[in-house]
Amino acid sequence: MTDSYLNPPFRITRTSHVRLTVADLDASCAFYESLAGLCVSERTETEAYLRGVEEVAHHSLVLRQAGIGATCDAIGFRVLEPRDLDLAKAWFDARGDSAEWVERHGQGRTLLARMDEGFPFELTAEMTLMPRVLTDYAAHRGGRALRLDHVQAVVPDVEATGKGFLDLGFRAAEAIAEPTGRRIGLFLHRKNNPHDLVLAMGQGPRLHHFAFVTADLQSMFRACDTAGNLGFGPDVERGPGRHGPGNGAFVYFRDPDGHRLEMILPPMQFMDAEEPTHVWSSVEKHQIVPWGAPASQRWREEATPFTDVALSTEGDPARWVST
Ligand SMILES: [Fe+2]
Repeated sequence: MTDSYLNPPFRITRTSHVRLTVADLDASCAFYESLAGLCVSERTETEAYLRGVEEVAHHSLVLRQAGIGATCDAIGFRVLEPRDLDLAKAWFDARGDSAEWVERHGQGRTLLARMDEGFPFELTAEMTLMPRVLTDYAAHRGGRALRLDHVQAVVPDVEATGKGFLDLGFRAAEAIAEPTGRRIGLFLHRKNNPHDLVLAMGQGPRLHHFAFVTADLQSMFRACDTAGNLGFGPDVERGPGRHGPGNGAFVYFRDPDGHRLEMILPPMQFMDAEEPTHVWSSVEKHQIVPWGAPASQRWREEATPFTDVALSTEGDPARWVST
């Protein structure tokens, strides 16, 4: 147990949103609306703001049409209230990290930060409220994605990047460790399930995937069937299957730009403060992937770069563990 989990320097509450660049906004919106079942909160010529059917916050996915290839502009986290943003600004300034106020449509005051040479992430306490579509069953489509759950980033040094987020109050619910004890996968959480931010070792920093919760297997299969209808059959990249870590039931899709969407069943609860980190052995593959085909090479090696963030020269994709 880290003291910073119980007494964080400021209070991050959960993973909030992901910002992606896309080549064709119409094609991307069709994918996320029809297949995943996300709702469009707002749309302009060049930007789309989407949310799950359970979500009242303005967006959990922002798509920006740009001619720069498929990148991730930032990962978003929520903090509990506006004063946590000021505490965060002071925290990053004291460390010498990059942290600047930015304007973001549909959300309140926003702090964009970057620790060391890592990926950009933004913090906000408020978003414009939208109707909850959960009981508007006639509006549900595809896999009827409920809410954003977590993001997974690929980083060259899981321990170093993990330390930065542990200091922000994240806790390692689970980890994957080599026989030497070195951790090459970290499942970090602030909300009451095992993951808000997953770190996996590899060439990075890059965004490996982001995960939306769907209600049940029928919805998950309906997303797969819809993918087939829309010509995305070959882009059902992995699964359905089950992870050992998190006991997560999953399926992964690649969107029209190659960004990776995971749909998962509702995760297990994880919140009691005395529970230690559950450590999985990297060599016990049958426990990490209990059944089914191993992850493909493209699942293990392909990921989304962050906008204007250079890849570290460190990090060996071949050492990636299949989670
Ligand atoms: Fe995941």
